[in-house]
Amino acid sequence: MEIIEKVKDEGLQAIQNCTDSKELNQLKVTYLGKKGPVQALMAQMKDLSNEEKPKFGAEVNQLKQLLANAIDEKAKALEEMEMVKKLESEKIDITLPPIETKLGTLHPLTVVQQEIEDLFIGMGYQVAEGPEVEIDEYNFTRANTPEGHPARDMQDTFYIDPTTLLRTQTTAIQMRVLDTAKGKLPIKVICPGKVYRRDDDDATHSHQFTQMEGLVVGENITLADLKGTLQFMADAMFGEGRLLRFRPSYFPFTEPSVEVDVSCHVCQGKGCNVCKQTGWIEVLGAGMVHPNVLEMAGFDSKKCSGFAFGAGIERIAMLKYGIDDIRNFYTNDVRFLKNFNRFD
Ligand code: PHE
Repeated sequence: MEIIEKVKDEGLQAIQNCTDSKELNQLKVTYLGKKGPVQALMAQMKDLSNEEKPKFGAEVNQLKQLLANAIDEKAKALEEMEMVKKLESEKIDITLPPIETKLGTLHPLTVVQQEIEDLFIGMGYQVAEGPEVEIDEYNFTRANTPEGHPARDMQDTFYIDPTTLLRTQTTAIQMRVLDTAKGKLPIKVICPGKVYRRDDDDATHSHQFTQMEGLVVGENITLADLKGTLQFMADAMFGEGRLLRFRPSYFPFTEPSVEVDVSCHVCQGKGCNVCKQTGWIEVLGAGMVHPNVLEMAGFDSKKCSGFAFGAGIERIAMLKYGIDDIRNFYTNDVRFLKNFNRFD
């Protein structure tokens, strides 16, 4: 009887202290299995007298039942506890803000390029492109800049071989357009693209930059058409009120030629290092297409005329967004790039 009490106390204690169902299964085997104490007690029955047997048997059965019940109850309790724990750990907080999906942004140069393209497409222009590795012929000769012409020195050129180069100006695209038009008028194109010059990089210069040139050839095209077009573009790009300055200039492929400046956005014209203390930033070269250019491409320069202009996209983007260093466009710092959200 003492042993029964002992097994009962120890068993119940162990079951009570048990904290997970695996351990509980082990206890079940230990106490109620074939090699367990309950079974051992049963085995002792044969040594008892006939009078003792029923009482002892009943006690052992009771013990067995008690332990089995305790285990069942504990199993249920543990199961519940484990379920609660599982639910707790797998809980989804639907009030948490979602993980942000980051979308890429368009490069500011692309934004400005597309804006200008849209502007001119709206006026009936077509967008023309050309190769960055260009032949001398289109980059210079057709643009009224034959070999030995001093104007070739205006643009320090990366030559690949004596007749092939990295184009220094998107004027090369214009020359291709004139060539393929085969005398057919009118021509209204804008020519965006990368250009290359052997320049030392600083706040306003880059050895590779982006140009957007425009070309119109037709009957009775005058300088007034050029001025009106550039004014329209400046108003659309920078809003009304920014000052434009037209200065006489020289380009081999235009006559007359003008240089168009925009008042500096950083200092509002007072003078700073971005505008080199002048208050103005040069954004455009332009002029009336030189008769030689038209003739070389097979047009009769007595019957048609045209204007052309070339803008630096970087400069326009700098003006638009108040960027004071051209190198920002090429250093790929996301903190800079993410300011230009395509959904703005
Ligand atoms: N191609 C000239 C340059 O790169 C710009 C320009 C284009 C000037 C068209 C006049 C007409 O400096």
